[in-house]
Amino acid sequence: MPHTFITGANRGIGLGFARRLLADGHIVTAACRRPDDAAQLHALADQHPGRLHLAALDLADPASITRCAGTLRARGTGPDWVLSNAGVSHAQALGSYTPDALHAMLTVNAAGPALLAQAITPLMPDGGTLVHLSSGLASLTQAPSAGADYDGYAMSKAAVNMLTRRLARALTDRRIVCVALSPGWVQTNMGGSDADLTVPQAVDHMLQTLRGLTPAQSGAFLDHLGTPLPW
Ligand SMILES: NC(=O)c1ccc[n+]([C@@H]2O[C@H](COP(=O)([O-])OP(=O)(O)OC[C@H]3O[C@@H](n4cnc5c(N)ncnc54)[C@H](OP(=O)(O)O)[C@@H]3O)[C@@H](O)[C@H]2O)c1
Repeated sequence: MPHTFITGANRGIGLGFARRLLADGHIVTAACRRPDDAAQLHALADQHPGRLHLAALDLADPASITRCAGTLRARGTGPDWVLSNAGVSHAQALGSYTPDALHAMLTVNAAGPALLAQAITPLMPDGGTLVHLSSGLASLTQAPSAGADYDGYAMSKAAVNMLTRRLARALTDRRIVCVALSPGWVQTNMGGSDADLTVPQAVDHMLQTLRGLTPAQSGAFLDHLGTPLPW
């Protein structure tokens, strides 16, 4: 059974990935900041005995990232898939930038995933898949017309796109496919209730895309349907 590691798995898209992958027979390690409070993950663990492991992970805390990877190493089960999904967004446009919000987004959305990749890719088997949840707002091409209030968020997602391309190169010899994947506009706390896609719809589309990935696509920036997005 494939083993998938998911960050931000307690709610939103991350929880949707956990739910769907467990139904599909995966072993899942669900990482979140406060596993003891993750009631929906505990309910899933009861429904899928022995196949869902909870792990504590705060991407803003490098020691937490190290501890989380240590927990996986101790279990002796490196993940075949890593879904680096957790993220934060704050509305920030010229005139309303604040150091704390900018720092939080760059930390959780870009620096944290880089440190996580460094800690976790040595545990992955060759031929695995590393996915960064990105956003259409990461696109430099589309920046003049999209997400006017989300400068800091767009910066952080452009950074994780660059991380994806650089990791794709660094991990070529191990045949680890690394992609930046935009989920579409999804009904979560972040996306809001007016969004186009439900979580199950977005997750279905993304998993279909991920299952069809080839090594030649490593380093790509894709939408949920697998269509390349402009950098
Ligand atoms: N929804 C959309 O329309 C949309 C569009 C484009 C891209 N995305 C991307 O898709 C991913 C998932 O988004 P979502 O809509 O599911 O968001 P969400 O509902 O707001 O969930 C965000 C998740 O990230 C976790 N998280 C926040 N800060 C963290 C930290 N410091 N360490 C570890 N986990 C942390 C949250 O945990 P807590 O519960 O502890 O806060 C939560 O599990 C994000 O990367 C987002 O940028 C979403």
